[in-house]
Amino acid sequence: MSRTVYVNGDWVSEENAKVSVFDRGFLFSDAIYEVTAVANGRLIDFTGHAARLAKSMASLGIKNPVTEDTLKSLHFEILRRNELKDGLIYLQISRGAEDRDFLYSADLEPTIVMFTQARNVLQNPRWETGISVATVPEGRWSNRQIKTVQLLFSSMAKVDAQRRGADDAIFVEDGLITEGTSNNFHIVTKDGKVVTRALSNALLHGITRASILDIAESAGIATEQRSFTPDEAKNADEAFITSAGVFVMPVVAIDGHPIGTGKPGSITQKLRQLYIQHSLETSEGP
Ligand code: PDD
Repeated sequence: MSRTVYVNGDWVSEENAKVSVFDRGFLFSDAIYEVTAVANGRLIDFTGHAARLAKSMASLGIKNPVTEDTLKSLHFEILRRNELKDGLIYLQISRGAEDRDFLYSADLEPTIVMFTQARNVLQNPRWETGISVATVPEGRWSNRQIKTVQLLFSSMAKVDAQRRGADDAIFVEDGLITEGTSNNFHIVTKDGKVVTRALSNALLHGITRASILDIAESAGIATEQRSFTPDEAKNADEAFITSAGVFVMPVVAIDGHPIGTGKPGSITQKLRQLYIQHSLETSEGP
């Protein structure tokens, strides 16, 4: 039997339930959710779930599209439409859909989706046997070498940086710079060496970063891969970020402190020029 799903105010069959590919939930994990159990047609702990949902939305600055009363009515309505007595109700609200940008518009209409999953939540054979667990290192939000769409934190950091009058943010962990919100961060020391953080799971292994290191070496510009502090970066001769989107972008100030002359540095500009030239010469055409 096809379920009836709730999508942005409409009740539709699950085959016709569609969300935009530009939805920020899909592109940036910019969404929150709740799962509420249903037993004997009753919503278990609904008040707690509704309160956490409201809190999650407030924390992320997502406009709350439903009052708690409307939410409760929607929960009972989805049970009625699906003749569900026991199972789960999944509810997800994303910030909404617009063209992909880490910075989001303030007036976005949230996307709201609900569906049911039938399950006998009052009987579970494993209650009798119990389950086993394995320990794994806590790696949530710390496997940045994998290019996942878990971009909510980066997106929020960028918005925060702009509120503080900067164009972008660079992350600092244990007193050391990891990378930018959507780019790798590099400095040029007083003796003309390009310094960039060594690869690890603390940062994304940028493709542009790798090419720039190769190009620098070929051009006789020394490179070093090691960690550095925000203070060292503030006192560097030059700083720049790299990514597929901006190639090599000079960074001229950190926390309001000018880098070098406060203007794009010559090594930075040279690296971009070499990168573009090299890329156009060696990259694949149709
Ligand atoms: N971002 N670090 C992070 C966290 C990134 O998201 C990116 C790329 C980079 C640079 O990687 P590359 O040189 O392979 O593009 C580093 C893309 C451009 C984006 O999200 O828009």
